[in-house]
Formats: sequence, structure tokens, C-alpha cells
Amino acid sequence: MKSVLVEKVKDSFEFICDEIASDKSISHRCAIFSLLSDRPSKIDRYLLGEDTLNSLNIATQLGADVKRVGDSITITPPLSVKEPNDILDCGNAGTAIRLYSGFLSGLDGMFILTGDAYLKARPMSRVVDPLREIGAKIDGRENGRLAPLYIRGSKLQSFRYHSPIDSAQVKSALILAALRANATCYYKEDLLSRDHTERMLVGMGANIENDEDGWIAIKPLKKSLKPLELTVPADPSSAFFFALATVITPNSKIVIKNVSLNKTRIGAYKVLKKMGANIEYELKEDKYEPIGDIYVAYNGKLKAVEVSSKIAWLIDELPALAIAMAFAEGTSVVKNAKELRVKESDRITSMITNLQKCGIVCKEFEDGYSITGGNLQEAVIDSYGDHRVAMSFAIGGIFSGMRIEDVDCIDTSFPNFFDILSKITKVEF
Ligand code: S3P
Repeated sequence: MKSVLVEKVKDSFEFICDEIASDKSISHRCAIFSLLSDRPSKIDRYLLGEDTLNSLNIATQLGADVKRVGDSITITPPLSVKEPNDILDCGNAGTAIRLYSGFLSGLDGMFILTGDAYLKARPMSRVVDPLREIGAKIDGRENGRLAPLYIRGSKLQSFRYHSPIDSAQVKSALILAALRANATCYYKEDLLSRDHTERMLVGMGANIENDEDGWIAIKPLKKSLKPLELTVPADPSSAFFFALATVITPNSKIVIKNVSLNKTRIGAYKVLKKMGANIEYELKEDKYEPIGDIYVAYNGKLKAVEVSSKIAWLIDELPALAIAMAFAEGTSVVKNAKELRVKESDRITSMITNLQKCGIVCKEFEDGYSITGGNLQEAVIDSYGDHRVAMSFAIGGIFSGMRIEDVDCIDTSFPNFFDILSKITKVEF
């Protein structure tokens, strides 16, 4: 188990950053969706993190031929998906296990999806229950609540499903199942969750449309889709750690290049701006996704904020935002965020327990927390095996110094995180 010591920053910094890890959500989808075409997909800047390499390995086990030169990959799909001769290991990746569940439910064959100890503790009923309702033969431990998941591909019925949670993983699993169903399917969520699946599949020629009442209509596939050809943008969730570093370090500035500016992904930047940070965007292209540069500059002490709506638009950045709250003047409150409890770790407990170790006054609620800004002190942090908890405290460490234990998990989403952090301060393993 690797641990790291992050030293207190000595100087202000100013740099242009074009090395942020590529988007994890889009990379997973590239691996999976390429199997819906009959021609090779070409992806540049595929994320070479553990999670997305697992999705790519699974595509290979299902018969795809993957050629990789650096982070450029060509995925040649099989004529039809092959029954794998082994289990499909998703590692730590919730996106992989949930999207592949929907994708495989309507195909011929037997499939077993599993992952690491953390993934095996995360809830799977959110995809298993609606998939069973449309005829999927899917099971798992505790009657399908936990992985490993066993799937025997079968014929799927059309559905009209109003999801009780705003989750892109659930939505994507159901959309992928709908592509194999016997008639048009309808899906609805209260708040639009990240919409990469809809954007990418429509770009590949799928018939997916939104009506005025917020229902997404998905027509079953009549033929193979067009292949994907895209450059994956930088991940706004990964970039956010360096936006955070900038707003807590006096006189610092950063330009983060070629980031997805999808509105469902940049809610946390808007909150940081509300806290007083100086943040601007420059839109540069809009093919599958709006992509551009984010300019962040230190702008004095942050102010406390309340976050209680549009949670799905900033769910992955709440750990890093908790660090910003620990620096802000006043007491910040996060509510309606109980989804944090079922992420890579229980992020409410992981963040609050570690912040308390750093001398910050904070309180846990069932669906969120309150954090009173103070003087963050050096401590020994437990990452709970959660990449975003580890990276959040590493950034906190540039203010106070910090030891973070169990940082291997960072490789799931941001393998070069410490290379970039080393431009700002000293990092010792
Ligand atoms: C993701 C969706 C979100 C997010 C996760 C990635 C995706 O999860 O937290 O990191 O790629 O679809 P939920 O859909 O469970 O909210």
C-alpha cells in the first residue's frame, strides 16, 4: 500500500495545463459502444486509467480486437459479441459493471461481471431490478443486490421507466438494454444526469430523442451503428483538483486545456465561483461534447456556500469541494447528497472523518454534511481506497502538508496526478 507526503506549497504558481487525465465517463463509453458498430472505432486520448482499461479488456474478452499506440486506440468489433470464457472483471469501476449489465442483458450468452472488494459492496439493484422487469435474466449475491452479477442474455421487452434516482449509470444501462428491446422504450429522470451516452449514441446513428415532458424515447437497433471517431476531452472532475489548488493558493493562476464543458459536469466550478473564485470558460468546439479551456485564478478568501440542488451535476466533485469549504469563511452545508454514501467509498464518512483529523469543525448528516472553514492542519489521511478522497486531501496538503495513505487508487482515474502536483509542490512517496 503506497502512501505519499505532500509538502506545503512555498510559492504561488501559474501554468497552462494540458495533461489532465482524459474523461473517464466518455472513455468507458468508447470501449463499450464500439461493440455496437460493425467497423473499427478510432479513439484518441483514451484514458489509460485502471477503470477504463478494465472496460477495454472486457471489450476484448467479448471479441473486439484492440490496437493501442500510446493513448490512441482502434477498436475493431467482432461480427457478433462472443461468449467470454472467463469472468469479466470491472475492478473498481461502477460505470463498467452497470453499463455492461444493460449492454449484455439482451445478447446471446452467459456473462459474469465482478470487481474488487469496493465494487462488490456497491448497490447493483438500481440496474438489476429494472432490467429484470423487462425480462433480463440477471442475478447476483443477495438476490441481485451485490456483484458478482450473473447474466444469461435473453429477449427484452420494451419499457416506460421513471427512474427514482438521477443516475447516468442507470440511465445508460437501460438505454443500452433498450437498443435490444422489442419496441420503442421510454426513460425519464427528474434531473438530467450526465448525457454522454445519449450524445455519443446519437452521433453513431442511434434513434434516441427527448420529448417535452422529459421522456427519452429509444428505438431498438435495426442495424449496426456507425463507428466512433473522437478525441476524448480532459475530465472536468480530474481538472477540478487543480482548480481547487489554484483557488487556495494566493496569487496563483491556471489554464486547463480542452476540458468537457458539458453543463451536467461543471456544476462544481459554478459553486466554486459562487464561493468567490475567479473562473472563466472559453468554448472551442462542440461535436459530441462542448469542449474548451477553463481559466482559474486566486481571488482572495472563499466564502461559505449551501449546496442542495442539481447534485448529480457535481456529485463527483463534492469531495474536492469539501476541501474548498474547509478553507472558506463561515459554515457551508451540503444536503440531498445521500448518493455520496454509495460511491467508491462512503464519501460522507470518508471526508468528514478525515477533515476532523485535520482539525476542521464539521458534522455528518444522513444526506450530507456541514463544514466550518478553519485552519486545515497536517494529518495522516486514510483514502478508504477512494481515488477522489485521496486526491482531495493531497490538494489540501499544499496548504498544510499532508500524509495520505493508500494512494494506489488514484490510478483508477488519474495516473499522472502526482506528476502535475509536483509542478506545484514537493511530493514524496
Ligand atoms: C458516471 C456516473 C456517475 C458518476 C460516476 C460516473 C458515469 O454515477 O458518479 O463517477 O460515467 O455514468 P451515477 O450514475 O451512479 O450517479
